Amino acid sequence: MLDRMLAAAIDDYVARNPASRAQHDRAATAMPGGNTRTSLFHDPFPLCMVRGQGARLTDADGHDYIDFLGEFTAGIFGHSPAPLKQAIAAALDDGINLSGHNRLEAELAALICARFPSMDLLRFTNSGTEANLMALAAAVAHTGRRKIVVFEGGYHGGVLVFPPGGSPVTVPHRFVTAPYNDAAAARALIDGDTAAILVEPMLGAGGCLPGTPAFLGALREAATAAGAVLIFDEIQTSRLSVGGQQAVLGITPDMTTIGKFFGGGLAFGCFGGRRDIMDLFDPRRPGSLGHAGTFNNNTLTMAAGIAAAGLLTAEALAEVNGRGERFRVTLNALFEKRRAPFHVTGLGSLMNLHARGDAGLRKLIFLDLLRDGIYFAQRGLIALSFAITDDDIAAFIAATDRFVTDRRVLFS
Ligand SMILES: Cc1ncc(COP(=O)(O)O)c(C=O)c1O
Repeated sequence: MLDRMLAAAIDDYVARNPASRAQHDRAATAMPGGNTRTSLFHDPFPLCMVRGQGARLTDADGHDYIDFLGEFTAGIFGHSPAPLKQAIAAALDDGINLSGHNRLEAELAALICARFPSMDLLRFTNSGTEANLMALAAAVAHTGRRKIVVFEGGYHGGVLVFPPGGSPVTVPHRFVTAPYNDAAAARALIDGDTAAILVEPMLGAGGCLPGTPAFLGALREAATAAGAVLIFDEIQTSRLSVGGQQAVLGITPDMTTIGKFFGGGLAFGCFGGRRDIMDLFDPRRPGSLGHAGTFNNNTLTMAAGIAAAGLLTAEALAEVNGRGERFRVTLNALFEKRRAPFHVTGLGSLMNLHARGDAGLRKLIFLDLLRDGIYFAQRGLIALSFAITDDDIAAFIAATDRFVTDRRVLFS
């Protein structure tokens, strides 16, 4: 029954989206599978988006969607809000990159250090992946050790991914992997050989599974006892309060990485931490560590980041995260009431829809909601932006209600 419904939903998707299909076919002549960003692919071909405004997206076939994906968390501001556009335009007027230092980089660095007490000093990169790579390099250099403790299901970038069984594209550090949220297992691995513990306060790509305070607190204690560097990857969770999830938990890591929305929509990453670790990169010191990068202080990104920091206020974050909490509770209540085998996990504005049992169920709800103008990730990720309103949430819930009604035969 599920197979039949899924086949019909896919046929309908293909029939509705000829322009996206044609674009995918064209892309496949120059990129493997028409893809340059793995997370965007889904069968039979992904949509091609042509325009975004506020919380709305328009695809190549002219369909409008409410954007509940929010650029995999990076798009917290909605599409192209005026303060970001103005900041980027003003930076453009002063010249794209200036072959030297600029005033913007120091301003953005100070704004970020002020938000995160764990960052005495920081440096900019071009992606979250790169920020984590540099944080690990710093920890290895600082400790003179090689072992790095990471967690199953952790995602720290395209070359720092830890699915069950490992990944051939992950960089060859001496990683050891522990189960997430298992304090005892992690403690057993953290010892005098450990350079770093790299952890997301909530598994993001791993399904929006929050780290427990006990687990993350145990990592803090074990890192201190072993003299290892505790790195919080807050590339997603830094939106959960002005000081990120570390502020909510009251746990101060030795290093923090951020990215995504802190670049105001442009390519961005940042790693920072204790002064004694970050001082390794001070080029005034003999034997300092190098960290070059043509675009590390890109004027457009720095300007967008400063504008972004101004938008990421305590009030705005409390509102979007509060809306997310209420949304998640409502969705879970709906699934429970209709005995539909789905549940939503997450924190604040970040969440993931999970289907129990057959993976086809998640695909079916994705396709049904798309048809009804609701866009989120097929893997289940939902990330609210500031542009999402209560009416948009009501539209998502109505579409979900329709799904659980239309497909109820699958759940009985
Ligand atoms: C927790 C986490 N760390 C690191 C990254 C990598 O960031 P980027 O895609 O900017 O390289 C991501 C991206 O999704 C992420 O969610």
